Amino acid sequence: MVGICVFDAYGTLFDVTSAARAVAAEPGREAFASQWQALSQTWRDKQLQYTWLRAASGIHTDFWSVTCDGLDYALEAHGLAEPELRARLLALYRALAAYSEVAEMLNTLRTEGFKTAVLSNASPAMLEAAIASAGIADLLDAALSAEQVGVFKPAFANYALVPACFGCARREVLFVSSNGWDAWAAGAYGFRTAWVNRRGEPVERLPGRPEHILDDLRGIPDVARAL
Ligand code: LAC
Repeated sequence: MVGICVFDAYGTLFDVTSAARAVAAEPGREAFASQWQALSQTWRDKQLQYTWLRAASGIHTDFWSVTCDGLDYALEAHGLAEPELRARLLALYRALAAYSEVAEMLNTLRTEGFKTAVLSNASPAMLEAAIASAGIADLLDAALSAEQVGVFKPAFANYALVPACFGCARREVLFVSSNGWDAWAAGAYGFRTAWVNRRGEPVERLPGRPEHILDDLRGIPDVARAL
């Protein structure tokens, strides 16, 4: 039986495209507005690639640094390297919007007796700011960070933070991520898994499939109850 639901943060609870979308809607941003989606995708791709490369090489830095590095790459790649735009995007990234169903979903889980937590690559300060701006601090039992182990996911030391925090078995944990690679690694570690596939992407070609695949987070309480 599952008693603890653990969520990845960026892309799963928090909409990583919301910073660039909001900036694109500001007056005087025509050049940016015409390519904000492509830039946002490059930013996210590079941010994640840098976490994997740093985990594989053992040359760690914190998630804020790789977020800045990914943005710098993306701005240059799209011909938009302007200090003011960079500063604005990063300011909004610190307070990303949560997906609309997040608060109600967490509230349902807590009301039914499940423990809830976030397990993220983000540093504690970054995570705290995002959780506070989303107004979900009271709906989480723990916020676990890669900074506690000094290596990014998918290093298993990250997933091991959950049993260490809750004193539970791996099979008592439902791990939820919108990142297919993250759901895969959590399953390989021994968690039950749900992959939130908002964009209809193919299943990652990695060994094993996510146990559950959902379009968004609304179905998570049903999945948790049934496990
Ligand atoms: C996180 C990244 C993977 O929050 O989105 O850990």
